[in-house]
Amino acid sequence: MVQLRLPKNSRMTAGKTWPKPEGVTNLRKVQVYRWSPDDDKNPALDTYWVDMDTCGPMVLDVLIKIKNEIDPTLAFRRSCREGICGSCAMNIDGINTLACIYGADEVKGDIKIYPLPHMPVIRDLIPDLTHFYAQHASIMPWLETKTNRPAKEWRQSIEDRKKLDGLYECVMCASCSTSCPSYWWNGDKYLGPAALLHAYRWIIDSRDEATGERLDDLEDPFKLYRCHTIMNCAKTCPKGLNPAKAIASIKQMMVERTV
Ligand code: SF4
Ligand code: FES
Repeated sequence: MVQLRLPKNSRMTAGKTWPKPEGVTNLRKVQVYRWSPDDDKNPALDTYWVDMDTCGPMVLDVLIKIKNEIDPTLAFRRSCREGICGSCAMNIDGINTLACIYGADEVKGDIKIYPLPHMPVIRDLIPDLTHFYAQHASIMPWLETKTNRPAKEWRQSIEDRKKLDGLYECVMCASCSTSCPSYWWNGDKYLGPAALLHAYRWIIDSRDEATGERLDDLEDPFKLYRCHTIMNCAKTCPKGLNPAKAIASIKQMMVERTV
């Protein structure tokens, strides 16, 4: 468990403005949330100037260039650079998304980058996802079976396999959950769109034999029913998924099993 020292309060202070490079014609102003547990200051918005003629096209390229060439103290997560690992999720220009697949030219004006909202910050753009991952683990994200293991493999028809489309592609970036007002206010008890999308992915898997237990576990005033169909999750998901629809499907199954 990461021991967090959180910002004193959420009031932003003016941060450092780095010098403009000279003789550059294609400059972008980039403002980045900065906070470190190593000092006793409030969060600040630092300003950098980036030469886009020598920078890759994505917002992650901009951050990597800043870190490599301007300010090595800037901290952020990234790994795959192609929207697969989910680690570079952050708030860019007011949108929760993956920095590696979000083009800098999609942002009009200055590029403003913050960590995912409403999460404790470990440092700069790095949120603490400990609770988010624990919620994911709580829905048993694995195939649960009771019958004897088949000799070769758990078989599934093409039609049943298709039911997993739009669900299995989730990269657990947390963009959806951290865009959801219900999750902001009740994230300690409400599982949030990402964990519930995964719950549904296993509930409707034809090979799974724990559907009843899975639904029993979600029959709770907070875990599932704090979704009020606000739809921020579907709007922001960088993989084009629709967690709200998955949540609605679980609610429908709850109703159907009582009639
Ligand atoms: S549903 Fe989309 S936004 Fe939510 S965690 Fe999965 S990939 Fe990220
Ligand atoms: S670096 Fe892997 S999703 Fe962006």
